[in-house]
Amino acid sequence: MSKVTVVGAGNVGATCANVLAVNEVANEVVLIDIKEGLAEGKAMDIMQTAQLMGFDTVVKGVTNDYAQTNNSDVVVITSGLPRKPGMTREELIGVNAGIVKSVASNILQHSPNAILIIVSNPMDPMAYLTLKSLGLPRNRVIGMGGALDSSRFKYFLSQALNCNANEVEGIVIGGHGDTTMIPLARLATYKGIPVSTLLPAEKLDEVVKATMVGGATLTGLLGTSAWMAPGAAASAVVESIVKNQRKMIVCAASCEGEYGMKDIMIGVPVILGKNGIEKIVELNLNADEKTKLAASEAAVRKTNGILHDMKLI
Ligand code: 2OP
Repeated sequence: MSKVTVVGAGNVGATCANVLAVNEVANEVVLIDIKEGLAEGKAMDIMQTAQLMGFDTVVKGVTNDYAQTNNSDVVVITSGLPRKPGMTREELIGVNAGIVKSVASNILQHSPNAILIIVSNPMDPMAYLTLKSLGLPRNRVIGMGGALDSSRFKYFLSQALNCNANEVEGIVIGGHGDTTMIPLARLATYKGIPVSTLLPAEKLDEVVKATMVGGATLTGLLGTSAWMAPGAAASAVVESIVKNQRKMIVCAASCEGEYGMKDIMIGVPVILGKNGIEKIVELNLNADEKTKLAASEAAVRKTNGILHDMKLI
């Protein structure tokens, strides 16, 4: 039996709850929002697809009633504002930081042992804020960004290769920001074949650039942040934990010396199992990749500095 709470019934939260249900990731999903009736409505809409889709997961919507989230195994936090066209994720920190901090502390009062998945932007600093302000062990706070960015990378690679996206492997490390994410083109493969031997360097470069601005491109097209892939990426992270799948997924993790980094949460490959982050996988990066990771680390650290200025940690 597993119970998952999704905080925020906006586009990303509701999509995440829907994917969790359709894939029967958990037995019970509680969707909670501050807006009266919103979570109840989205949950009812999802439940009216149960017979059509053939799933048994029960999704329940509640307004602000944290008691209903009691004893959740995993909690996904999507609360806060999404970005608008032309905005960076980092610009959301002033509004979202206070929201994420109070949501996470409400959650812990009712589910003291829950593993927290942070989706709200700016994602890496929001994960860091949750970890630091609540004093949680590092295996229990996970930022979703790398799962999403890696999925976008595989999509753009499959477009360039004109192949099935499920046959492509690719990982994106670093911060979840337009200039901070690092698609690792050198390690990307198609059926085990390095894509660098299948695509011209300029094409591969285009794929990397498209991946980095993948979220911004969609925000421009949609007028608000994307939600399908972000919701599904959060669900995939939850699934590896509640089913103890031990998948290697890139997530923002608290590094304590891994990759030479300390006191930061940033995207690195992790093994996700029943305890949350079971292990950080240290890739053998080349000099160029190390330089990019150092720059990404510096940028994320600078945004984390705003949290100190705001006296939130
Ligand atoms: C995304 O990448 C905005 O972080 C969100 O779609």
